[in-house]
Amino acid sequence: MSKQLLPVYDKPMIYYPLSTLLLAGVREILLISTPHDLPGFQRLLGDGAHVGLEISYAAQDQPNGLAEAFVIGADHVRGGPSALVLGDNIFHGPSFSSTLQQAAGRVTSGESGCVLFGYPVKDPQRYGVGEADDDGRLISIEEKPEHPRSDRAITGLYLYDEHVVDIAASIEPSPRGELEITDVNRAYLEQGRAHLQDLGRGFAWLDTGTHESLMEAGQYVRVLENRQGVRIACIEEVALRMGFIDARQCHDLGARQAGSGYGEYVMAVAERFGSP
Ligand code: G1P
Repeated sequence: MSKQLLPVYDKPMIYYPLSTLLLAGVREILLISTPHDLPGFQRLLGDGAHVGLEISYAAQDQPNGLAEAFVIGADHVRGGPSALVLGDNIFHGPSFSSTLQQAAGRVTSGESGCVLFGYPVKDPQRYGVGEADDDGRLISIEEKPEHPRSDRAITGLYLYDEHVVDIAASIEPSPRGELEITDVNRAYLEQGRAHLQDLGRGFAWLDTGTHESLMEAGQYVRVLENRQGVRIACIEEVALRMGFIDARQCHDLGARQAGSGYGEYVMAVAERFGSP
């Protein structure tokens, strides 16, 4: 089973990055995974219409790198701005939706060609690492550097203008044999058109790439959800709050899962919005 279908506490991992896209206002989504794992996602999410989305699917036959997403998905994103989110990245923090929508505005207005999100970590050598000037312009980026120039990890969420397809098509595989997203980002840096936005220390960015980090992410979600009585990355709730579905549709989705705490929550959220 694909790890993005594993639960992070009370819902599949894929719900977290999916919610990130929804919060950015993205509704047309191409989900790329291995040929083996795609059917699992299709069973879980279908065409996405139930939550007001248009989800389509494409296979990456070999692990050729993140930037290959823009080769595989070229027809999907060509001619317009796009966002890439990694299936194992969890973003959670105050005002994230407005942060995302502001960042998306930088790209759609042409102010930036790409917007990256930086996050302070204690082990930056595990990640892409960036540096920005006082205006937030990206001035250096390196993939998994031995001697990082900053503690700013580049998180797995990337916003791009329409040139990303041509840039991704022009880069060569790295020494580890992958089309690196860092090389795409470096191309924007060289044009002076890359922006690095800091998510700050009050924010939570969790990657769930190891057993330990997966456990930690589950604990984080559990602690917050139990304390506040809200659910993080409940896609039905996010779709409702974003106006992609109405309260009645949301309630119906909850009713289909009645008997589970998750379904009860979805119905309660819909009821607070005035339905049925
Ligand atoms: C990838 C990117 C890296 C980024 C990280 C975020 O790393 O190459 O720049 O910081 O995702 O999760 P990988 O998962 O390929 O090790």
